[in-house]
Parts: sequence; C-alpha cells; structure tokens
Amino acid sequence: MDNNHATLLNVHLIDAAEERTDNLPNLRLSPDVDRKSLPHIQAAQSRLENLWAVGTDYCEETIRRARAENRLLHLDIDMTGECKLKCFYCDRTPDRYSDVPDRTELSTQERKDIILQARRLGATTVEFPGAGEPMIDPGFWEIVEYIHSLGMTTVLFTSGYHLDAAAADRLYELGASVFLKYNNIDTAVQDRMVGVRGYGDKARSAMGLLLERGFNKSIPTRLAIDVVVTPKYHDLDDVADLFRWCRDNNVHSYIMTLIPEGMADHKSLLLEKERANDLIEMMRKIDEEEYGLVYSPSRPMGGGYRCRQVNCGLFVNLFGEVYDCNGLSRLVGHLRQDTLESVWNSAYAEKIRTPDQNGFCLVRERQWQGRDLSAMNRKVEEYERWRAKHGDDAVVERAKQAVGIDHVELTRKGAMVKTPTTQPV
Ligand SMILES: C[S@@+](CC[C@H](N)C(=O)[O-])C[C@H]1O[C@@H](n2cnc3c(N)ncnc32)[C@H](O)[C@@H]1O
Ligand code: SF4
Repeated sequence: MDNNHATLLNVHLIDAAEERTDNLPNLRLSPDVDRKSLPHIQAAQSRLENLWAVGTDYCEETIRRARAENRLLHLDIDMTGECKLKCFYCDRTPDRYSDVPDRTELSTQERKDIILQARRLGATTVEFPGAGEPMIDPGFWEIVEYIHSLGMTTVLFTSGYHLDAAAADRLYELGASVFLKYNNIDTAVQDRMVGVRGYGDKARSAMGLLLERGFNKSIPTRLAIDVVVTPKYHDLDDVADLFRWCRDNNVHSYIMTLIPEGMADHKSLLLEKERANDLIEMMRKIDEEEYGLVYSPSRPMGGGYRCRQVNCGLFVNLFGEVYDCNGLSRLVGHLRQDTLESVWNSAYAEKIRTPDQNGFCLVRERQWQGRDLSAMNRKVEEYERWRAKHGDDAVVERAKQAVGIDHVELTRKGAMVKTPTTQPV
C-alpha cells in the first residue's frame, strides 16, 4: 500500500459565524493560514492521491503493479438493500425492490466467504457502496471485524443516519474509511434530497462525531463526503464552499454528477455535459489558485479524482451478480455459478480491465452520448459486441442465465420479470 497514515494535522480553527459553511461542523481555517502549506496539501503536491481516502487512494503505479501481478485490489460488495431514506436520485433503488423469483440475497456467511476469496486474490480494500444503508445490515459489524482481522481496509458509504458516537469509535478502531453523504451545506436541502425531515441535522451531527474522532487526522484521510450535484439543488457557489471546506479540513471531496441508473435514470435529473464540465473546471481553478495544486481534471469527478476501479476491482451486488463497478456497468459473472477467481480470470473480465480507466466513467459518458438502452441491456451491450468477435465467455454466459438477462428488467422502482409467462430465473 502506498499510504502514509502517520502525519498528524494541526489546523488552526476559528469560529466563523458569518461563513456559509457555518452549517457544517465548525472547522474553518483562519484567513491568515497559508492553505498551500497545510500538510495534506503539501503531501498532494507530490502525489494527488494523498487527498483521497485511505483504501481508495490508488495511484497509477499501484495499478500498474497490480496489473502486472494480476491482483484484484478492491472488492465492492453490497450489504442490505434496506434503507430508511428516500433519495429521489438513488441509483440503487431497482436492486432493492425485486419481484424476480429466486433472486436471493447473499447471507453474511457468503459475504465473508467472498471477502476471503478477494483477499486471496490480493485485495486490500473492501468497499460497501450500499444498495441501501450498510450500517443497518444485521451482519454489518461481524463483516467489518472480519475485514479488519484479515488486515484489509473497510470503505463505508453511509448516510450517517444511524451513526452515533459508539459507532464512530468502533469504525475508527477497525480502521475503516467513511464516505458520508453530505449533499448540501443547508440541512433543509439535505432533508429534501432524502425525503425525510430531520436527516440534515443527523448528517451534520455524524460529521461532527467523525471529525471529533479524528478520521481526518491522517494522510491520506479516512473521511470523505459524497456529494451528488443535481440541476435542482445546486448552484456552483454552494459546491465551491463545500469543496473549500473539504480541502481546508483534509476531507476527501467525492463530488460528482449523478450516475444515470435507478431513480436517476432520467434526463431531467442529470447535469448536461457542459454543466458537468463547468463544475469540474470550477474545482480545478480553486485548487490551482488557492491551494497551488495543478492537474488536468477528468469528467465526471471534480478535484482531480480519477476513478481506477475498473482496472483493479470488482463489484458484487446483493444477489451475487458481479459487475466491473457499482455503477452497475458491465456484467462479468455470478458467484452462485463461479468463484471470484474464475470471474476475475475470465477472458471478458480481463479484456475490460486491460485499458487504463484513469477517471473515465462509461455509464455517464454513454448517457451523454445519447445511447439510451434499457437498464438491463446496458449491462451486456459491450459483451455482446465482444462475443460476436471472440465467441462465448462461459463465465458471462452462466451469469446471463442466472440473472435472467433476457426476461428481467430494472425499472425506476425495482427489478421485475418482463412477461408473466416467463420461467422463474
Ligand atoms: C447508494 S448510497 C448507499 C449508502 C448510503 N445509504 C448513503 O446514502 O450514503 C452511496 C452514495 O451514493 C450516492 N448516490 C445515490 N444515488 C446516486 C446516483 N444516481 N449517482 C451518484 N451517486 C449516487 C449517495 O448519495 C451516497 O452518497
Ligand atoms: S442514496 Fe443511500 S440513503 Fe438515499 S435512498 Fe439510496 S441507499 Fe438510501
């Protein structure tokens, strides 16, 4: 791992009631602090990935080495599909509500077994992107403790709705990195985005607990905010404030446009390409002028973040289906049919991870190109083209059968069988 967790930060804080970021817990840098000399900003001068959260801070060299050794570094895996919130933009909704017969969720034991398989393939990180809220999965702590016992890093995406001081302590002790949903400075906007009154205050309090516990005190940090930028709820000034707050406080800024899946599989919710470009250009300018960080950004992520998941990871959903990423991109296997090792080493999976991803996001770019297939067809579109040239990949063919790719569809509300006469999958 190329992490350096040792450096402690010593930031100068002032109370700034007049700041728009006052709605965030009270960390705001004094105006006389030279932002360019903050330890995490200095560390980012030599390696931009030092600003990304531990467990996700893969640089090109790490990826190159992993590729040379055929190592899987990063396992994404879903926990429960349950969630108490109702985000209007949630990409994971179709996974949660399933009318498809025999689509059975993985058990805690099966998840632990998959994690062990990933460890044997070289994985150092297990990420929970969340089909729902991972923290309310009955097996959540058992699994996080298991990951820790294997010497791996947990990366948790959470709304913070169920995060109290005891949970923050436990996550800290178990070495987890936390991506907290923090879509807006304004708690009322947060409430509207998740459809639940009082959520914004809970998220704010969760942020306070994580900061207090010191999740942002290492380099790279162990704390990130996940911010989705939607046409309805964001102006660029809001995002700029959130972004500066992240940079000042060594919180990884995971700021991006929506993935067009699930509830967000709808043009009206998505930033058009030009606005997405404006968003990342705004962050680039702040970084260059105020923090002395120079880089070329890559749509759709701001702040110089470049997703490399496809080169080094796999995603396993609630039912054991395997994809290249949790944007539910391309189907590569099914763990009720094959082992993780067989999926990782299949010809098609190998083909997918060979070109450098370096920030490219297939699901979003496809949408911006106007190629509008059904949600299920998108997952095998590229495979079918590859298959026409190279013939069947037995692992993907078994996965297609198990998923029922020809008679199941993902809708904005859930997965359903396309026709009532279809045989159960
Ligand atoms: C799917 S949620 C699951 C974990 C947890 N329930 C939460 O909301 O943080 C993980 C993250 O994905 C974000 N997200 C949800 N729908 C999205 C979409 N269509 N595009 C991009 N991110 C999305 C959420 O805001 C959240 O920060
Ligand atoms: S984004 Fe997270 S909190 Fe919101 S509905 Fe989806 S799973 Fe629940």
